[in-house]
Amino acid sequence: MATALTAAQEAAREAAKQAQTRPAPASDRLLTVEDLQTHFIQGTRAVKSVDGVSFSLRRGQTLAVVGESGSGKSVTSLSIMRLLSHPGRIVGGRILYRLRDGDVVDLATLPEKRMRAIRGREIAMIFQEPMTSLNPLFTVGDQIMEMILLHEPLSRADARARAKRMLELVEIPAPERRLDQYPHEMSGGMRQRVMIALALSCNPSLLIADEPTTALDVTIQAQILDLLRRLQHEIGMSILFITHNLGVVAEIAHEVAVMYAGRVVEQGPVLDVFERPRHPYTRGLLACIPDVRRDRTAEGGRRLLNSIPGNVPSPSDLPEGCPFQPRCPLVVERCREMPPLIPVSEDHRSRCWRYDEL
Ligand SMILES: Nc1ncnc2c1ncn2[C@@H]1O[C@H](COP(=O)(O)OP(=O)(O)OP(=O)(O)O)[C@@H](O)[C@H]1O
Ligand SMILES: [Mg+2]
Repeated sequence: MATALTAAQEAAREAAKQAQTRPAPASDRLLTVEDLQTHFIQGTRAVKSVDGVSFSLRRGQTLAVVGESGSGKSVTSLSIMRLLSHPGRIVGGRILYRLRDGDVVDLATLPEKRMRAIRGREIAMIFQEPMTSLNPLFTVGDQIMEMILLHEPLSRADARARAKRMLELVEIPAPERRLDQYPHEMSGGMRQRVMIALALSCNPSLLIADEPTTALDVTIQAQILDLLRRLQHEIGMSILFITHNLGVVAEIAHEVAVMYAGRVVEQGPVLDVFERPRHPYTRGLLACIPDVRRDRTAEGGRRLLNSIPGNVPSPSDLPEGCPFQPRCPLVVERCREMPPLIPVSEDHRSRCWRYDEL
């Protein structure tokens, strides 16, 4: 285990050093999700895609949400933005968000009219595929200007000047010319930069990034992560970064929340969670990170990559108690009862009865 984690651990240690992670007072929390439940109601059946998610995000920091496909990451972020598609519905819990003026609102129940003023201005979102957010029929400049004019009383000339500054901010060369181009005239990496410019154009306090680098090749991915880190430092925004890539978590996040079958099973500072995972699922995920040095045998052949046996259960077919038990090497009788999120140290929590044996 110790050698298997070396590369990821080194990156996490470096990221944590840079972040100088330290405990912060409760007023420093920008977003607190408490026991969120989002269900898809189909006739008399409810698919419990998110079933008791809790985590919090500090001002100016990055929280990564990780987990296998289907664990409820996107449904969680769409719940925060209140952009769930039919028949998805928030049926329980709270999403407490501190507005710029200091007021705390519950996004789970806020009227849609007030949500419209928050989306884009206080909270912005970027997605894996820029073409889902960019309109192919309008120029990049028009789309950024539209976002600015929706929220701020500026003239078109001033909005265009701001749009140009946004393209400069995300390091797009020849921004004046790019403003008049359509999304299809740009490369994937360039479109992702435009989407970040669009998201940041009204200076949001929170950026939700749902797998924003998954579709990019590794060099462009590294550039986009660098850009987000720099912008966070300059603008002071918080980022909720959704990914299934633990290498990316080590690069960008201060804290990590690990999701499994619609629940958070572990949350804590990245360094803590990477060095001392306290949930068998997290430990399994960390062991799955490929390591070029480790995964070659002495003869130069390849070893099989690690994997966690089995699959994430469907939200409509969960076992009783801890949902990880069918795949868990530590399962005992008590796991038929759902464990709560148990504090294992000041900021670190695990939803496993046997956390102290790991
Ligand atoms: N419109 C919908 N109707 C019914 N079920 C849905 C709908 N959207 C999502 N779900 C279910 O919710 C669960 C969580 O989905 P979600 O998209 O949040 O997963 P994810 O963690 O983002 O996965 P990925 O890594 O593949 O993006 C899945 O089991 C999915 O089938
Ligand atoms: Mg998703």
